[in-house]
Amino acid sequence: MIFQTLKLFNFKNFAEGSLAFVPAINCLVGNNGMGKTNVLDALHYLATGKSAINPVDAANVRHGEEGFSIKAACERNGTSLEVLCTVQAGRRKSIKVNSKEQERLSDHLGLLPVVLIAPDDITLIYDGNEARRRFFDSTISQFDKTYLHHLLRYQRALKQRNSLLKQFAQSGRTDPQMLAPYDHQLLTSGRAIYEVRQTFLASFTSRCAQLYKEISQEHEQIAIVYESTWQQDQPEQLYHEALPRDLALQRTTVGIHRDAYHFTIDGRPVKRFGSQGQQKSLLVALKLTQFEVLQQQAGTTPVLLLDDIYDKLDNDRIAILLQMVRGGHFGQIFITDAHPERTQHILAENKLPARIFTITEGQVTDCRDYEP
Ligand SMILES: Nc1ncnc2c1ncn2[C@@H]1O[C@H](COP(=O)(O)OP(=O)(O)OP(=O)(O)O)[C@@H](O)[C@H]1O
Ligand SMILES: [Mg+2]
Repeated sequence: MIFQTLKLFNFKNFAEGSLAFVPAINCLVGNNGMGKTNVLDALHYLATGKSAINPVDAANVRHGEEGFSIKAACERNGTSLEVLCTVQAGRRKSIKVNSKEQERLSDHLGLLPVVLIAPDDITLIYDGNEARRRFFDSTISQFDKTYLHHLLRYQRALKQRNSLLKQFAQSGRTDPQMLAPYDHQLLTSGRAIYEVRQTFLASFTSRCAQLYKEISQEHEQIAIVYESTWQQDQPEQLYHEALPRDLALQRTTVGIHRDAYHFTIDGRPVKRFGSQGQQKSLLVALKLTQFEVLQQQAGTTPVLLLDDIYDKLDNDRIAILLQMVRGGHFGQIFITDAHPERTQHILAENKLPARIFTITEGQVTDCRDYEP
C-alpha cells in the first residue's frame, strides 16, 4: 500500500497542507515543533481512525477552528483509493473511502496498514501490561475481524458488569443473578480472545526472536511470555471465587482484560535486566514482526512510519534497519528528523534515493528529490 498524496485542512498546526509522496522513502525535516510528526499522525489517522499521539479527536483540530479534514490518494494492490477523514465539532467522526462512508471503524481497520515506530514506544517495554495488550490487540484487530468483534463485546460486557458492581455497593443490595448475562459474555468472548492470543503469540514470538538476533547481532534468546487467567482449568470457577473480591473492589478482577505479556531475555525480564541497547533492539524487532504479520495477513505491504528514530537508536541498529530498506524488505517509508544534514548523510551513505520535505510552522516550505 502506498500514500500518493496527502491534503490537510486545519489539522493540528497545519491550516492547509498538500504533499505528493514517492513510493519509496519520504523524509520530513525541520526544526523541533514544526509539524513533522503531525504529518505522520495524519497518515496514522487515515489508517486507524485515531491519532497516535492524542486520542481526543478535538485536540487534533487546529486551535480556534471547528474541525479538520485529512485526505489522501492511496494505491493498494493496484486499486486506487481516496480516503477522507473528517472531524467536526458536534458531528460524528467520518471516514470515507472512495466517497463511501465506513459505517464502522472496525470495517476500516486493516485497509491501510501502517506500522509506526515512535519515541514513546519504549513504554511498551517499561509500562504496565496495558500498553502491551494494546499493541497485540491492535495488531490482531487489523486482520482478524472476529477477534475485534469479541474484543468489543467483551469490553462492553466488562463495563456493564463493573457498573453493576458499583450499583451493588451503593445500594447495599447484591444480586449475583444480575451478573449472570455479563459473566456469560465475558466467558464466551474471553475464551475466543484467549485462544487467538495464544496461537498468535506462539508464531509472533518465534519470528520476533529471530529478528532480534538479526538486529542486535547477539545471541541472547528473547521470549514473550503470555499469562492469562484462562490458563487455569476452569475459568468459570474463577469468576465465582472472585465474586467477594469483585464486590469489595467494585470491579471485575479476573479475565482476559488482566492478561499479561512479559518480555524476557535469557529468561530474565527485559524491563529490569536488559541493557538500553537490548531494549531498543527488542522494540525494533517487535515492530518489524508486526510489519511482517500485517504484510502476510492484510495481503498488502504496510507503510512504515519512523518518527525520530535517529535519536532513539544507535548507528549500528539504524544501519541494519537501512540495509533491510535497501534489501527491499519494506515498501513506502516516512522518516522524520530534526537534522536535515544527518538525513542527507545517511541517505548518501546508504545510497538511498528519497524525497525530502522541509516543514516550517505547519507548512511545506521546500520539497526536493535526492538522488545518490
Ligand atoms: N490542535 C493543534 N492546533 C495547533 N497547533 C497544534 C495542535 N496540536 C499540536 N500543535 C502544534 O504542533 C506542533 C508540534 O508538531 P510536531 O509534533 O509535528 O513537531 P515536530 O516537527 O515533529 O517536532 P519535533 O522535532 O520536536 O519532534 C507544536 O508546535 C504544537 O503546538
Ligand atoms: Mg516530532
